[in-house]
Amino acid sequence: MKLRESVAELTPYSPGKKHPGAVKLSSNENPLGPSPAAIAAVRDSATKIHLYPDGSGGALRAKLASCRGCAPEQIVFGNGSDEIMVFCAGAYIEPGDTAVGADITFSQYRFATTLFGGRYRAVPLIDGVHNLNSMLAAIDETTRLVFVCNPNNPTGTYRSHDEMATFLSMVPPGVLVVLDEAYAEYADAPDFPRSGELLDSFSNLIVLRTFSKIYGMAALRVGYGIGHRDIVADLARVRQPFNVNGVALAAAEAALDDDGFVRKSIEFTRTGKRRFGDQLTAEGFAFYRSQANFVCVQTDVPAEVAYTRVLESGVTVRALTSFGLPNAIRVTIGEEASLDRVLASLCTLRETR
Ligand SMILES: Cc1ncc(COP(=O)(O)O)c(C=O)c1O
Repeated sequence: MKLRESVAELTPYSPGKKHPGAVKLSSNENPLGPSPAAIAAVRDSATKIHLYPDGSGGALRAKLASCRGCAPEQIVFGNGSDEIMVFCAGAYIEPGDTAVGADITFSQYRFATTLFGGRYRAVPLIDGVHNLNSMLAAIDETTRLVFVCNPNNPTGTYRSHDEMATFLSMVPPGVLVVLDEAYAEYADAPDFPRSGELLDSFSNLIVLRTFSKIYGMAALRVGYGIGHRDIVADLARVRQPFNVNGVALAAAEAALDDDGFVRKSIEFTRTGKRRFGDQLTAEGFAFYRSQANFVCVQTDVPAEVAYTRVLESGVTVRALTSFGLPNAIRVTIGEEASLDRVLASLCTLRETR
């Protein structure tokens, strides 16, 4: 078989590691599990799995539109928000076109671009944050997409509302900005972008959100994008008719109604992140202040060495070598006892050096 050249360049995604018996803090999942309302909806919908789902996700669409203050026609659903990145590239990238994004960020932007024969132009972060000026400078006549991960995975850093608004005002109108807000619900910075307002001002913007993180539904694979209805109509052309399954749609709808669970998840993460941050500071570890449900910690030893030491304490974290940070790990905010074990492992590692 002759593999397409662009496909030969792709390497399969390497997910956060699981280890039997270990607490998993390697994939930024919700340690509180799913909302009880979502679990009940999954049970209820089990009797309907012989039926095709509503391909347009009508009920969830209506509910989300009212929660997010947009028109139902502005929403596109994906089998995870990953899939919407592929829709964006599938709709707009011709072979030889470019997409601009950060160098140390979520890998699927590069994947989606390369899949359609595009080139991903990776712009180095500046002090761990997207360098929006350099990203603007990297846009040329071949550029169709710009990916901004806010908060950024794996650093947890963010760009503010004003910074994003200025950036968007300078991106050529024919270039689509994909603003990935997978972790936005965790953000508490007062100047964190109000993406609804940005959507009102910029028609070349799509904002991606997911039910995989704060809603605790990563296994069900539901993500959504909100954008101008013309963009959403373009993306609908490359979408499979039943890309989100009926169980997932029902669970997402129920999860949206469970504000209490979302608030609890936010509170759990903020408290844990503050405590872990204070401990890291007290121990003298360098880390990025995070707006997400994870923290990126400098290990000063190869990430794999740190990964192994932490695993010995019964916790898996993410070694960030594949992200381009060979001496850093990413730790999802979990239970205090698990974070204590991570910290203790990092301390013993330092002592034995
Ligand atoms: C920044 C970012 N965007 C998107 C995703 C994927 O989300 P989903 O599960 O909705 O595909 C992840 C998953 O880790 C992520 O870190």
